[in-house]
Amino acid sequence: MARLDVTETYAGVSFPGHLHTLESLEYARSFDFQVDDIVIVTYPKSGTTWMQEVLTLIYSKGDAILAKTIPNWVRAPWLEHTYFRDVLTDDEGPRFITSHLQYDILGPALKRSKAKVIYVTRNPKDVAVSFYHFHKMANFLPDPGSFEEFLNKFLEGTVHFGSWFEHVKGWWSHREEMELLHMSYEDMKKDLRNSIDRVCEFLGCPMYPEELEGVEQHCTFTTMSKNSMVNYTLIAPEILDHNQGQFMRKGDVGDWKEHFTLEQNAHFDKVYKEKLQDLDLSFQWEL
Ligand code: A3P
Repeated sequence: MARLDVTETYAGVSFPGHLHTLESLEYARSFDFQVDDIVIVTYPKSGTTWMQEVLTLIYSKGDAILAKTIPNWVRAPWLEHTYFRDVLTDDEGPRFITSHLQYDILGPALKRSKAKVIYVTRNPKDVAVSFYHFHKMANFLPDPGSFEEFLNKFLEGTVHFGSWFEHVKGWWSHREEMELLHMSYEDMKKDLRNSIDRVCEFLGCPMYPEELEGVEQHCTFTTMSKNSMVNYTLIAPEILDHNQGQFMRKGDVGDWKEHFTLEQNAHFDKVYKEKLQDLDLSFQWEL
Protein backbone atom coordinates (compact mmCIF):
# COMPACT_ATOMS: atom_id res chain seq x y z
CA MET A 1 0.00 0.00 0.00
CA ALA A 2 1.46 3.37 -1.00
CA ARG A 3 2.04 5.76 1.88
CA LEU A 4 -0.04 8.91 1.71
CA ASP A 5 0.88 12.33 3.00
CA VAL A 6 -1.14 14.27 5.52
CA THR A 7 -2.89 16.65 3.22
CA GLU A 8 -6.21 17.62 4.74
CA THR A 9 -6.89 19.94 7.63
CA TYR A 10 -10.07 20.30 9.63
CA ALA A 11 -10.43 23.12 12.17
CA GLY A 12 -6.70 23.73 11.72
CA VAL A 13 -5.71 20.13 12.55
CA SER A 14 -3.96 17.70 10.16
CA PHE A 15 -5.91 14.59 9.19
CA PRO A 16 -5.01 12.02 6.56
CA GLY A 17 -7.91 12.45 4.14
CA HIS A 18 -8.31 8.71 3.66
CA LEU A 19 -8.82 8.04 7.40
CA HIS A 20 -11.55 10.52 8.16
CA THR A 21 -14.05 12.24 5.96
CA LEU A 22 -15.40 15.71 6.49
CA GLU A 23 -18.67 13.99 7.30
CA SER A 24 -17.12 11.77 9.99
CA LEU A 25 -15.45 14.74 11.66
CA GLU A 26 -18.66 16.77 11.56
CA TYR A 27 -20.48 13.77 12.99
CA ALA A 28 -18.07 13.74 15.93
CA ARG A 29 -18.25 17.50 16.39
CA SER A 30 -22.03 17.51 16.68
CA PHE A 31 -22.38 14.19 18.50
CA ASP A 32 -25.26 13.94 20.91
CA PHE A 33 -23.69 12.32 23.97
CA GLN A 34 -25.92 10.40 26.33
CA VAL A 35 -25.89 10.99 30.06
CA ASP A 36 -24.19 7.67 30.84
CA ASP A 37 -21.62 7.76 28.05
CA ILE A 38 -18.02 7.35 29.16
CA VAL A 39 -15.60 9.03 26.80
CA ILE A 40 -11.87 8.31 26.76
CA VAL A 41 -10.04 11.29 25.30
CA THR A 42 -6.33 11.09 24.54
CA TYR A 43 -3.66 12.34 22.23
CA PRO A 44 -2.50 9.21 20.33
CA LYS A 45 -0.02 6.94 22.12
CA SER A 46 -0.89 8.21 25.57
CA GLY A 47 -2.51 5.07 26.97
CA THR A 48 -5.79 4.92 25.04
CA THR A 49 -5.87 1.14 24.63
CA TRP A 50 -4.85 0.70 28.24
CA MET A 51 -7.78 2.81 29.47
CA GLN A 52 -10.16 0.99 27.10
CA GLU A 53 -9.07 -2.25 28.77
CA VAL A 54 -9.42 -0.81 32.28
CA LEU A 55 -12.98 0.34 31.56
CA THR A 56 -13.95 -2.99 30.02
CA LEU A 57 -12.61 -4.90 33.00
CA ILE A 58 -14.22 -2.57 35.56
CA TYR A 59 -17.64 -3.01 33.98
CA SER A 60 -17.01 -6.78 33.73
CA LYS A 61 -16.16 -6.84 37.46
CA GLY A 62 -12.71 -8.19 36.70
CA ASP A 63 -13.94 -11.01 34.44
CA ALA A 64 -11.90 -11.11 31.22
CA ILE A 65 -14.49 -12.71 28.95
CA LEU A 66 -15.33 -9.52 27.02
CA ALA A 67 -11.72 -8.38 26.99
CA LYS A 68 -10.69 -11.70 25.45
CA THR A 69 -13.44 -11.99 22.86
CA ILE A 70 -14.25 -8.51 21.57
CA PRO A 71 -11.69 -6.17 19.98
CA ASN A 72 -11.08 -2.92 21.82
CA TRP A 73 -12.24 -0.83 18.85
CA VAL A 74 -15.66 -2.49 19.07
CA ARG A 75 -15.90 -2.18 22.84
CA ALA A 76 -14.89 1.49 22.85
CA PRO A 77 -15.14 2.74 19.26
CA TRP A 78 -13.44 5.87 17.98
CA LEU A 79 -15.99 8.58 17.40
CA GLU A 80 -14.16 10.22 14.51
CA HIS A 81 -13.94 7.08 12.37
CA THR A 82 -16.93 6.57 10.13
CA TYR A 83 -16.77 2.78 10.30
CA PHE A 84 -18.01 2.62 13.89
CA ARG A 85 -21.35 4.37 13.43
CA ASP A 86 -23.38 1.22 13.93
CA VAL A 87 -21.82 0.53 17.29
CA LEU A 88 -22.47 4.08 18.38
CA THR A 89 -26.14 4.17 17.53
CA ASP A 90 -26.72 1.48 20.13
CA ASP A 91 -28.32 3.46 22.94
CA GLU A 92 -27.98 0.95 25.75
CA GLY A 93 -25.57 2.45 28.21
CA PRO A 94 -23.05 2.87 29.42
CA ARG A 95 -21.36 3.24 26.06
CA PHE A 96 -17.59 3.55 25.97
CA ILE A 97 -16.46 5.99 23.31
CA THR A 98 -12.90 6.90 22.36
CA SER A 99 -11.59 10.02 20.71
CA HIS A 100 -8.26 11.64 19.88
CA LEU A 101 -9.88 14.90 18.82
CA GLN A 102 -8.67 18.27 20.03
CA TYR A 103 -10.75 20.23 22.54
CA ASP A 104 -11.82 22.82 19.96
CA ILE A 105 -13.50 20.12 17.90
CA LEU A 106 -14.99 17.80 20.51
CA GLY A 107 -15.07 19.88 23.70
CA PRO A 108 -18.24 21.89 23.02
CA ALA A 109 -20.36 18.75 22.45
CA LEU A 110 -19.07 17.26 25.70
CA LYS A 111 -19.72 20.47 27.59
CA ARG A 112 -23.33 20.40 26.46
CA SER A 113 -23.68 16.86 27.79
CA LYS A 114 -23.41 15.10 31.11
CA ALA A 115 -21.13 12.39 29.74
CA LYS A 116 -18.13 11.42 31.82
CA VAL A 117 -14.75 12.13 30.28
CA ILE A 118 -11.48 10.39 31.14
CA TYR A 119 -8.57 12.36 29.76
CA VAL A 120 -5.31 10.42 29.76
CA THR A 121 -1.98 12.17 29.26
CA ARG A 122 1.56 10.86 28.86
CA ASN A 123 4.83 12.75 28.86
CA PRO A 124 5.31 14.04 25.31
CA LYS A 125 8.82 12.70 24.80
CA ASP A 126 7.57 9.14 25.25
CA VAL A 127 4.50 9.99 23.15
CA ALA A 128 6.74 11.17 20.30
CA VAL A 129 8.84 7.99 20.43
CA SER A 130 5.80 5.72 20.57
CA PHE A 131 4.10 7.65 17.74
CA TYR A 132 7.25 7.41 15.62
CA HIS A 133 7.37 3.63 15.98
CA PHE A 134 3.65 3.42 15.29
CA HIS A 135 4.12 5.38 12.06
CA LYS A 136 6.70 2.85 10.96
CA MET A 137 4.12 0.06 11.27
CA ALA A 138 1.02 1.94 10.17
CA ASN A 139 0.77 1.88 6.40
CA PHE A 140 -2.20 4.25 6.60
CA LEU A 141 0.01 7.03 8.00
CA PRO A 142 2.74 8.98 6.22
CA ASP A 143 6.26 7.54 6.28
CA PRO A 144 7.83 9.12 9.39
CA GLY A 145 11.31 9.39 7.86
CA SER A 146 14.10 9.55 10.42
CA PHE A 147 13.33 10.08 14.12
CA GLU A 148 14.73 13.61 13.78
CA GLU A 149 12.35 14.39 10.91
CA PHE A 150 9.40 12.95 12.77
CA LEU A 151 10.27 14.78 15.97
CA ASN A 152 10.30 18.09 14.11
CA LYS A 153 6.84 17.40 12.70
CA PHE A 154 5.62 16.39 16.15
CA LEU A 155 6.91 19.66 17.62
CA GLU A 156 5.33 21.65 14.77
CA GLY A 157 2.06 19.80 15.28
CA THR A 158 1.82 18.69 11.65
CA VAL A 159 1.13 15.05 12.52
CA HIS A 160 -2.13 13.11 12.63
CA PHE A 161 -4.50 14.70 15.18
CA GLY A 162 -2.38 17.85 15.33
CA SER A 163 -0.30 19.41 18.04
CA TRP A 164 0.25 17.54 21.30
CA PHE A 165 0.72 20.93 22.99
CA GLU A 166 -2.62 22.27 21.78
CA HIS A 167 -4.35 19.03 22.73
CA VAL A 168 -3.15 19.13 26.31
CA LYS A 169 -3.62 22.89 26.70
CA GLY A 170 -7.14 22.71 25.28
CA TRP A 171 -8.47 19.84 27.36
CA TRP A 172 -6.64 20.82 30.54
CA SER A 173 -7.79 24.42 30.53
CA HIS A 174 -11.43 23.44 30.03
CA ARG A 175 -11.40 20.46 32.39
CA GLU A 176 -13.65 22.08 34.97
CA GLU A 177 -16.39 22.79 32.44
CA MET A 178 -17.33 19.12 32.15
CA GLU A 179 -17.20 16.00 34.26
CA LEU A 180 -13.60 15.11 33.58
CA LEU A 181 -11.13 12.85 35.33
CA HIS A 182 -7.50 13.38 34.44
CA MET A 183 -5.31 10.28 34.52
CA SER A 184 -1.67 9.98 33.61
CA TYR A 185 0.08 7.10 31.93
CA GLU A 186 2.94 7.45 34.39
CA ASP A 187 0.64 7.17 37.43
CA MET A 188 -0.95 4.08 35.90
CA LYS A 189 2.49 2.62 35.42
CA LYS A 190 3.57 3.52 38.93
CA ASP A 191 0.49 2.22 40.71
CA LEU A 192 -2.09 0.54 38.53
CA ARG A 193 -4.30 -0.53 41.44
CA ASN A 194 -4.58 3.00 42.73
CA SER A 195 -5.32 4.27 39.23
CA ILE A 196 -8.09 1.71 38.81
CA ASP A 197 -9.50 2.77 42.19
CA ARG A 198 -9.58 6.39 41.03
CA VAL A 199 -11.45 5.45 37.84
CA CYS A 200 -13.94 3.33 39.85
CA GLU A 201 -14.57 6.20 42.21
CA PHE A 202 -15.10 8.66 39.37
CA LEU A 203 -17.55 6.30 37.68
CA GLY A 204 -19.34 5.40 40.91
CA CYS A 205 -18.47 1.70 40.51
CA PRO A 206 -17.44 0.27 43.87
CA MET A 207 -15.65 -3.07 43.60
CA TYR A 208 -14.69 -5.94 45.84
CA PRO A 209 -10.94 -6.50 46.30
CA GLU A 210 -11.01 -9.76 44.30
CA GLU A 211 -12.75 -7.97 41.40
CA LEU A 212 -10.13 -5.22 41.51
CA GLU A 213 -7.47 -7.88 41.49
CA GLY A 214 -8.95 -9.26 38.26
CA VAL A 215 -9.00 -5.82 36.63
CA GLU A 216 -5.40 -5.20 37.58
CA GLN A 217 -4.20 -8.60 36.44
CA HIS A 218 -5.77 -8.30 32.99
CA CYS A 219 -4.53 -4.76 32.45
CA THR A 220 -0.82 -5.32 32.91
CA PHE A 221 1.44 -4.81 29.92
CA THR A 222 2.37 -8.51 29.89
CA THR A 223 -1.23 -9.73 29.83
CA MET A 224 -2.38 -7.13 27.29
CA SER A 225 0.58 -7.88 25.01
CA LYS A 226 -0.68 -11.47 24.73
CA ASN A 227 -4.33 -10.53 24.20
CA SER A 228 -5.07 -10.42 20.48
CA MET A 229 -8.20 -8.33 21.20
CA VAL A 230 -6.01 -5.39 22.24
CA ASN A 231 -2.56 -5.96 20.77
CA TYR A 232 -3.77 -5.17 17.23
CA THR A 233 -2.45 -8.42 15.75
CA LEU A 234 -5.95 -8.90 14.31
CA ILE A 235 -5.28 -6.02 11.93
CA ALA A 236 -4.16 -7.16 8.49
CA PRO A 237 -0.44 -6.70 7.73
CA GLU A 238 -1.28 -4.45 4.74
CA ILE A 239 -2.67 -1.98 7.27
CA LEU A 240 -0.36 -2.56 10.24
CA ASP A 241 2.94 -4.10 9.22
CA HIS A 242 3.72 -6.38 12.14
CA ASN A 243 7.23 -7.00 10.76
CA GLN A 244 8.04 -3.36 11.50
CA GLY A 245 7.24 -3.63 15.19
CA GLN A 246 4.53 -4.32 17.73
CA PHE A 247 1.70 -2.11 18.86
CA MET A 248 2.36 -3.18 22.46
CA ARG A 249 5.97 -2.14 22.03
CA LYS A 250 7.66 -1.41 25.38
CA GLY A 251 5.10 0.18 27.65
CA ASP A 252 7.75 2.07 29.60
CA VAL A 253 8.25 5.50 31.08
CA GLY A 254 11.48 7.19 29.97
CA ASP A 255 12.12 5.19 26.79
CA TRP A 256 12.70 8.57 25.10
CA LYS A 257 16.19 8.56 26.61
CA GLU A 258 17.08 5.72 24.26
CA HIS A 259 16.03 7.81 21.26
CA PHE A 260 16.75 11.50 21.87
CA THR A 261 20.18 12.98 21.24
CA LEU A 262 21.31 15.72 23.63
CA GLU A 263 20.56 18.34 20.94
CA GLN A 264 17.09 16.96 20.27
CA ASN A 265 16.38 16.96 23.98
CA ALA A 266 17.54 20.56 24.40
CA HIS A 267 15.43 21.65 21.43
CA PHE A 268 12.39 19.77 22.76
CA ASP A 269 12.76 21.37 26.19
CA LYS A 270 12.96 24.81 24.61
CA VAL A 271 9.81 24.30 22.55
CA TYR A 272 8.04 22.72 25.52
CA LYS A 273 8.88 25.72 27.69
CA GLU A 274 7.75 28.22 25.06
CA LYS A 275 4.47 26.47 24.40
CA LEU A 276 3.45 25.32 27.86
CA GLN A 277 5.05 27.78 30.22
CA ASP A 278 1.74 28.91 31.73
CA LEU A 279 0.23 25.46 32.09
CA ASP A 280 -0.32 24.31 35.66
CA LEU A 281 0.27 20.68 34.74
CA SER A 282 3.56 18.85 34.96
CA PHE A 283 4.72 15.58 33.47
CA GLN A 284 6.81 12.71 34.77
CA TRP A 285 9.73 12.10 32.42
CA GLU A 286 11.00 9.04 34.25
CA LEU A 287 9.99 6.90 37.19
P1 A3P B 1 4.91 2.21 23.62
O1 A3P B 1 4.92 2.37 22.13
O2 A3P B 1 5.77 3.21 24.32
O3 A3P B 1 5.20 0.81 24.06
P2 A3P B 1 -2.29 4.17 22.63
O4 A3P B 1 -3.12 3.03 23.07
O5 A3P B 1 -2.73 5.50 23.15
O6 A3P B 1 -2.07 4.17 21.15
O7 A3P B 1 -0.85 3.99 23.31
C1 A3P B 1 0.00 2.93 22.98
C2 A3P B 1 1.13 2.91 23.98
O8 A3P B 1 0.61 2.48 25.25
C3 A3P B 1 2.23 1.93 23.58
O9 A3P B 1 3.42 2.52 24.12
C4 A3P B 1 1.81 0.70 24.36
O10 A3P B 1 2.83 -0.24 24.56
C5 A3P B 1 1.36 1.34 25.69
N1 A3P B 1 0.52 0.47 26.51
C6 A3P B 1 -0.62 -0.16 26.17
N2 A3P B 1 -1.05 -0.92 27.19
C7 A3P B 1 -0.16 -0.77 28.19
C8 A3P B 1 -0.04 -1.31 29.52
N3 A3P B 1 -0.92 -2.19 30.00
N4 A3P B 1 1.01 -0.92 30.27
C9 A3P B 1 1.92 -0.03 29.81
N5 A3P B 1 1.87 0.51 28.55
C10 A3P B 1 0.84 0.14 27.76
